[in-house]
Formats: sequence, C-alpha cells, structure tokens
Amino acid sequence: MAKSILIIGACGQIGTELTYALREKYSNEQVIASDIREGNEALMNSGPFEILDATNYDALEEVIAYYEINEVYLMAAMLSATAEKFPMRAWNLNMNSLFNVLNLAKEKKIDKIFWPSSIAVFGLNTPKNNTPQSTVMEPSTVYGISKQSGERWCNYYFTKYGVDVRSLRYPGLISWKTFPGGGTTDYAVEIYHEALFNKQYTCFLDKDTRLPMMFMDDAIRATIAIMESKAKKLTIRSSYNLGAMSFTPAEIAESIKTHIPDFNINFKPDFRQEIADSWPSSVDDSLAQNDWDWSPNFDLEKTTKTMLKNLATKN
Ligand code: SER
Repeated sequence: MAKSILIIGACGQIGTELTYALREKYSNEQVIASDIREGNEALMNSGPFEILDATNYDALEEVIAYYEINEVYLMAAMLSATAEKFPMRAWNLNMNSLFNVLNLAKEKKIDKIFWPSSIAVFGLNTPKNNTPQSTVMEPSTVYGISKQSGERWCNYYFTKYGVDVRSLRYPGLISWKTFPGGGTTDYAVEIYHEALFNKQYTCFLDKDTRLPMMFMDDAIRATIAIMESKAKKLTIRSSYNLGAMSFTPAEIAESIKTHIPDFNINFKPDFRQEIADSWPSSVDDSLAQNDWDWSPNFDLEKTTKTMLKNLATKN
C-alpha cells in the first residue's frame, strides 16, 4: 500500500515545516495536514487539510480510515510556558492525543507513529552538562511531566503491543517560517525578529542561561531520519536525546551583532527563567549518532545567518 501520512498539529512551528518537507519528499496528496485551526495560506494551498481535534478519538479514527493513513506524526501539544498557566488543559491535550494515536496503532489501524518529546523531561537533579540519555529526570513543569509520562507510555506500547512508535527529545527549535507558541525557548526566535526590525530586544531569560538549541532544518531532517530508519537499528523506544548546539542569550546576541552592530539587548527574566533553570545546558546524543547516524548541520553562526537572511526577505 502506498504511504499515506497524517500530520496532527500541522499549523504549528514544527508541523508546518514537516508538512512541506514530507510533501516534497512524497507527494502533496500523500501527506494530509490537520490541526484544530487553519494555518497559513501556503500550507493550506499545498495539499489536503482537515480540521481535527486530536483528543477526539472518533474524529481521528474517521480521518485515518478515510485517507487510509498508515503513518501519523503527532505534533499537537501545549508547550512549557502556556502549560504552567493551564495545567489540566495541557495534561489532557498532551496525554489524550498520545493515547488516541497509540491505541489506533495497537488496533492496527496505523503502522507507525512519530511523537516528539523534549529536553523538558529533565529536571533540577539531572546532570546539567552533556546530559546522558538515561539519568535522573524529575521534571518540574506540567509540560515536562506530560512528556516524561508520554515517553514511558511509548516504551510500554512498543514493548507490550509491538507499536512502532519513534520519538526525539527536541532541544529549543529555531525557525523563520512559523512562530513557536508558548515555549520557554521562544526567545531564540523572537530575538531575530526584534533585532532585524527594531534593533532592540528585551529577553525574558537571563543572559547566562545556557540551553540546548537546534535550527529547524536539522530538526526536520532528524525527524524524517528516525522515521525512515530500520526498526531493528532503534535501541531507544522512549525518546532519543538529540543535540546540535548550546548557547546563552548573551551569546546569541553577540552572534546577531556581527550582522547588526547596533543591535541592543537587555534582560528582564520572568516566570520562564525558573523553567529554563530546570533544563539541561547540553545533551549527549551519542545514541542517536550511533543508531541512525545523526549529525547536525547548523551551528549558531550558520543559524544566525540563515535566520536574518530569510526573515529579511520574507517580510
Ligand atoms: N521548546 C519547548 C518549550 O520551550 C521545549 O520543548 O516549551
């Protein structure tokens, strides 16, 4: 049977670019985009789109049957900062959507799932630098708790029911096509917009808060690579650590200043500082490197150059 892919949360920061990339790789008709709301014009016009609430099992089952879907990428989630404001809503969305997809796979209605986890699964007692794959976790945010639980459920469904679910612990993701929404690492996207158009940015994290980060092209490449990897190569069925670069707000500002010398940054940490302080500074992704040949293409310098160039021409 020809591959037929459903992307849930296709209008979000990752979902948009994933939809474009998979449509390019396969065909527009083979990649069904879905979200709870409509997305930008380019996305809506590039292929099939369905309004879909991922917490509604029956609606999801119907779309999967109609398009004869065999692979699902579940990108819908409430991110860390918003989830602190709406804990129960975040838990319900993040967990019920995952259970729906896992149960559809258990019932053999789909063959393969991608589900994203995050550096937010780690916590204050986790080793901060070069954080190992397996270590103390103890997440302290609603979002992190939902991602850690999700990882355990993915591993459980794989072990008990043979569900082919694959997952990555994304670092903070930097992109120019679609804004992130409600995350703690969003500053690393906002800063480029503000530098370019206002030459001034007030950062909600402190200048020395070092976090793992990745440019979106790398994240999309990693996502497609793990989904295409032979099942027997994958030794992790909870979620793989995934790394590319690590920097602080002060360092990203310096990198922007090499292109925009009169850019000015100041720092006004808010509630998101506490979230960031509980996360690693860098992660050890050697299992991803060994199991399915992961290696990133973008460092901070290349990210800054690409972000500024594309944002300048986009607007
Ligand atoms: N980037 C996400 C956030 O900040 C973490 O996965 O919430």
